[in-house]
Amino acid sequence: MKVLFVCLGNICRSPLAEAVFNHKISERQLLFKADSCGTGAYHIGHPPDIRTIKTAERNGITINHLARQLHERDFEEFDFIVAMDQSNRTNILRLAGANQSKHKVLMMRDFDPAGNGDVPDPYYGTMIDFQEVYEILDRSMDEFLKSLRS
Ligand code: 4NP
Repeated sequence: MKVLFVCLGNICRSPLAEAVFNHKISERQLLFKADSCGTGAYHIGHPPDIRTIKTAERNGITINHLARQLHERDFEEFDFIVAMDQSNRTNILRLAGANQSKHKVLMMRDFDPAGNGDVPDPYYGTMIDFQEVYEILDRSMDEFLKSLRS
């Protein structure tokens, strides 16, 4: 089972989602695979935003990723493509075009027991916004993993 987490820049939300996912699957000894990418090209090859790295560290999560852009072949390679917000989802579906894989595209917060909608973009925010993203991802990922296992 391979899961791709997608945001806009691939330096804030989706690399943290990938790291939270990897942390939880290694705790649970599950054999899923994860990657992340952005719909935009601005940060290709860049490490995560320093605030993402600090937020991961503060919460005991290892993060190790270099940004890349979503590619058409991702629709073949991954079983699930998880968008952080509605705008990411629109852009993913646009790239999918007539591809049969549109059913693979999910919204991260459809798994949030505390409420649905977007994982808010923290890029123009503060560390408080990054911690809020972490907490959304942490609780959404528990439900997402339950649904993958069932
Ligand atoms: P992300 O956040 O999509 O969560 O990685 C952003 C990163 C960079 C930009 C926007 C959002 N940007 O405009 O460069």
